[in-house]
Amino acid sequence: MDQANRELEALLDFYLASGIDCLLETDPVDRFAETARRAERRAGEQMFRPSDRQVQGPGPAAAQSPLSRMPGADRPLPQTAPHSISSNPAAQPQGGEASGGGASAVLPNASVVESARDAAGNASTLEELRACLEGFDGCNLRLTAKNLVFADGNPQARVMFVGEAPGRDEDLQGKPFVGRSGQLLDRMLNAIGLDRSGAYIANVVPWRPPGNRTPTPQETEICKPFIMRQIELVKPDILVFLGSASAKTLLGTQEGIRKLRGRWMNFSTGNAEIACVATYHPAYLLRSSLEKRQSWQDFLSIKQKLAEKRTN
Ligand code: URA
Repeated sequence: MDQANRELEALLDFYLASGIDCLLETDPVDRFAETARRAERRAGEQMFRPSDRQVQGPGPAAAQSPLSRMPGADRPLPQTAPHSISSNPAAQPQGGEASGGGASAVLPNASVVESARDAAGNASTLEELRACLEGFDGCNLRLTAKNLVFADGNPQARVMFVGEAPGRDEDLQGKPFVGRSGQLLDRMLNAIGLDRSGAYIANVVPWRPPGNRTPTPQETEICKPFIMRQIELVKPDILVFLGSASAKTLLGTQEGIRKLRGRWMNFSTGNAEIACVATYHPAYLLRSSLEKRQSWQDFLSIKQKLAEKRTN
């Protein structure tokens, strides 16, 4: 490989490590020149600005702004508190097809959540649910993700694990929990006599958020009907939430993971009640190994619950 290729590859590695993983425009934009032009324009405007300070209105810059031409730009922005997930579709931001933006980007709104619910509800097998997600264009994460990360493991397993969202390795392989945290999860499963042939693994959000950012409350709400249906179709004896995001989303609670973990609860699919428990996310355990002791207790309790359920 010649020097230029090596430098290019190093630059791409640097971009990836910085969380830049998608191309927004094909032509480079000279932001320095843009800034200089804007400053020049502003200086010119100042020279001709009327001294009367009562001049009202958005002014020439706002009139030109593409955002000001978007439908609904005159509406106030929705006040969605970060991480306050509402199950009430009416509480979702209003919007619809983005008219001026990227080809198929969609503004999340109540009708998108509604269509996700309809689509998920119509799937009567896991294969149909996967196909339905493959064709679902209501979540913009699919535009930046390389693959749908639907599930791994055995759909007949008695225990199902649900994480938050795929990371880079999962996105590349199209399988959940295959990176470092997945390797730790495998070791924890092995420790209680399980492996992926005895467990089913999925995520609340099946597409990787760019740069591994946290999924927004809207993205989570749009994806929620699909994971709910996936749980309903797998019908495990035991459901395990890996980490606080998964537990909070699916249990509809704001309680923190420290309080939630290790407590057996019931998860209702509408048709059935499933014994469920939350535990720390393996990625968190990689950073805070002190909590591994509690996590081990949780896994022993999962093993015991499986044994109890087998004898009942
Ligand atoms: N973290 C998750 O929550 N899910 C994965 O699949 C990988 C990492």
